[in-house]
Amino acid sequence: MPKITVLPHAEILPQGKEIEVPPGTSICEALLENGIKIEHACDMVCACTTCHVIVRKGYDSLNEPEEQEEDLLDKAWGLEPQSRLSCQAIVAREDLTVEIPKYTINHAKENH
Ligand code: FES
Repeated sequence: MPKITVLPHAEILPQGKEIEVPPGTSICEALLENGIKIEHACDMVCACTTCHVIVRKGYDSLNEPEEQEEDLLDKAWGLEPQSRLSCQAIVAREDLTVEIPKYTINHAKENH
């Protein structure tokens, strides 16, 4: 099974974690199933940006983002070329390294 290395995040996952994920699972589901409490305000229907992750390794193995995902990502805090909405990014057969950005759009509004 492919592995996802989740990089440390100060609040959600201070130590980082390595998880094994069956192909065909979304990154968001995989994190939640492994006790990593990534935000998912719209309940994984591609209508928010709170599940934003940056795929540091293995980005090209993922399914292509749909237009709606791209549009939402434009509004995400800390957008990078390898950003994805984790509820829309489906794990294939390759290992991934994933970073959860420091803020979601909700936090960004409060703090800046
Ligand atoms: S949980 Fe809302 S877009 Fe992924």
